[in-house]
Amino acid sequence: MKTPLGIMTAALVGFIALGLTGIPISPAQGADGKELYREYCKTCHEADSPHGEYTPMSLIQDQWTRFFDKKYVRKHKDVIDEKHGGKPVTETISPDDLELIKEFSIKGAADSEHPMTCG
Ligand code: HEC
Repeated sequence: MKTPLGIMTAALVGFIALGLTGIPISPAQGADGKELYREYCKTCHEADSPHGEYTPMSLIQDQWTRFFDKKYVRKHKDVIDEKHGGKPVTETISPDDLELIKEFSIKGAADSEHPMTCG
C-alpha cells in the first residue's frame, strides 16, 4: 500500500503542532462527566422516570462502583436508547465516555465530599 507523501507530511505536521500547543488529549474531568451524564443517563433517569430517578447523589460510592462493575451492562444491554440512534445503551456510550460518567458519579455520590445532582 502506498500513502501519498502529502498526507503523511500533513499528519506529521499535525502531530508536532498538537505536541507544541500542549493541549491535553483527554478533556477536563468533572464538567464533561456531568455533561455526558446529562446527555446519556438523565434522559432515562430524570425525576418521575419509570426506570427510577438516578443522579450521582442517589447512591453512595460503593454502590456506584458496584453498579459500573456489574449491573450497568446487565441492566442496559437490552435497553434501546431512542435518543441516540436506537441502539442499546451499552453500544451507544463509548468506553471512554462511560469512564468519565463513572468518575463523575463516584465523585458526586451521596457520601462524597460534594454530593451532586446532575443539574
Ligand atoms: C434508554 C434508557 C436508559 C438509559 C440511557 C440509561 N438507563 Fe439506567 N436503566 C434503564 C432501565 C430500563 C433500567 C432498569 C430498571 C429496572 O430494573 O426496573 C435502568 C437501571 C439503572 C440503575 C439501577 C440499577 C439497579 O441497581 O437496579 C442505575 C443506577 C442506572 N440505570 C444508571 C444509569 C446510568 C448511570 C446511565 C448512563 C451511563 C443510564 N442508567 C442510562 C434505562 C436507561
